[in-house]
Amino acid sequence: MCGIVGYIGVKPVKKILIDGLRELEYRGYDSAGIAVLQEGSFSLFKAVGKLIHLEEKAHDYESSGFAIGIGHTRWATHGKPTELNAHPHMGANSYVVHNGIIENYQELKAMLIHEGANFVSQTDTEVIVHLFEHYLKNTPTPFDAFKQTLAKLEGAYAILLITGSASDTIFFAKNGSPMIIGKNSDNETFFGSSDAALIGKCTEVIYLEDGQYGYASGEVIHLYNGESHDVTLRFTPLSGNKLSAQKEGFRFFMEKEIYEQSHVLADTLMGRLRDEQIHFEELESGLFEGINEIKLCACGTSYHAALTASYLFQRHAAIRTSVEIASEFRYREPYLTSDTLFIVISQSGETADTLESLKMAKRHGLKTMVICNVDNSSMVRLADASILTRAGIEKGVASTKAFATQVCVLWMLSLYLGEIRKTLEATEIRRQIGLLRTLPSTVTVDSNMHEQLRRLSKRYLHGHGFFFIGRDVFFPLALEGALKLKEISYLHAEGYPSGEMKHGPIALADPELFTIALLPQHKLYDKTKSNVEELSARDSTICSISPLDFDKADDHIRTKQLDDYMLEFFEMMVVLQLLSMEIAIRLGNDVDMPRNLAKSVTVE
Ligand code: AGP
Repeated sequence: MCGIVGYIGVKPVKKILIDGLRELEYRGYDSAGIAVLQEGSFSLFKAVGKLIHLEEKAHDYESSGFAIGIGHTRWATHGKPTELNAHPHMGANSYVVHNGIIENYQELKAMLIHEGANFVSQTDTEVIVHLFEHYLKNTPTPFDAFKQTLAKLEGAYAILLITGSASDTIFFAKNGSPMIIGKNSDNETFFGSSDAALIGKCTEVIYLEDGQYGYASGEVIHLYNGESHDVTLRFTPLSGNKLSAQKEGFRFFMEKEIYEQSHVLADTLMGRLRDEQIHFEELESGLFEGINEIKLCACGTSYHAALTASYLFQRHAAIRTSVEIASEFRYREPYLTSDTLFIVISQSGETADTLESLKMAKRHGLKTMVICNVDNSSMVRLADASILTRAGIEKGVASTKAFATQVCVLWMLSLYLGEIRKTLEATEIRRQIGLLRTLPSTVTVDSNMHEQLRRLSKRYLHGHGFFFIGRDVFFPLALEGALKLKEISYLHAEGYPSGEMKHGPIALADPELFTIALLPQHKLYDKTKSNVEELSARDSTICSISPLDFDKADDHIRTKQLDDYMLEFFEMMVVLQLLSMEIAIRLGNDVDMPRNLAKSVTVE
């Protein structure tokens, strides 16, 4: 979610680092910073907000001759977006930048404070540099200290570390977060968390694998794997096209973001799952005291996540739950009581209607919470409590990975509440935590499935409309499927509860009416199947999505046999996203920037 760069060479290091960070800024812009080591002395610059602020701060600094430097642009996970929390983090004589989350940072921090370390930030990252200096006191070389540091870290990381004890060297490590090393014919060495930062500077790169670490001294790179074995350096050529590098080989950002869901869900879950407990470090223990009702409020895709959550909150936590479309809520003079927790859901944290609804709830004295993807957004600053979804920046206007992470957080929150309210047995919480752990693999895109959807898409380019239908949480998923399709294909689509079709919409049924039917094995299968049969009997064209055979379907998309309806929900979500995208691509539309839409809707 953050961006990392590093450089060893004789060119002006500030410009190289800041140019690299500019390519990564879309990943996070809560703060940015660089640290340069030249002739034994450090220069450090940090600034809150966009990179331009860092450039202003470092305006008068220039290096000449050999130097090493590291830089970072931050998407806050631990600690507010302040200058103290900005990377690089410093020890007495060393600096570190880091992507990922150090899960055991609290115990390491306690140990280091006991040993006399002085912490200045609220981040998990700062433990790395203090741990390194702790080991450096009693180890023969900085590299030994670095290895001992890595051995103590739990969680995901990509790390660059520089120290006054080795003034021509950058130490690096990768475990779960990306890290690339680049070279060019001038024998300069570059580091980046994405190749977008290296394009135009390097001709060849090494994409590090998890568990690899090492150091680069001057022109020489030493690379090791988990067992301290020397790894042969295998460089691959680097393409020269920046936009395609950012898309990482995918045709559209939307496609990349659908494929990324496995990784971002792993980030969303990170540090939040215990064996029998959900852990939200960011929530105060008293938040739910005196709360008897939950009101969820959002727009668009986030509203569909809220609707999904309303089933889970009532089912798992036995709490009265209602859902509001923010643009309606604002003006309908709602009756609000102080025992209600008001939860807004927003990818951007800036949507005008949702933000105003949040302000309204606060004016009525309600406790408020936001589930959001952007840490320093207006909603996060305003709400009493916030949970970050950690989806990373979503570039496609049609929301995909943001929705996946919202539903994941809301599912976890329903279990968290179920435990507090003692409405779920420990065994059931344990079972569902087991399911949550499988989410990253559940949403991994199966290439055969993607190919089937690509081929199928050619049959759905016309007609007079689509009905996406489902029951229970598959109704909000049907709404989301229909929204995805209309946003990017410009075809008319509606989401409907499957049991409602007979109350009117079934009058539209004919071969040119396409029904996309969500038929999960583990939630109301027979009931939904009957509804789809009613449509099939009236000659609607049926595309069923189910792990079970369905002989009344014209097309059938077979999903995996999974253990629970929530896993089926996430797999079907991916199917609907890909199907919409493939239809839109065949229609020749700009999938990432569909007509008439904007990523962040800051007007009423
Ligand atoms: C979904 O694909 C859309 N981009 C849109 O419905 C979006 O979810 C809505 O505008 C709300 O945005 P937010 O989550 O940033 O508040």
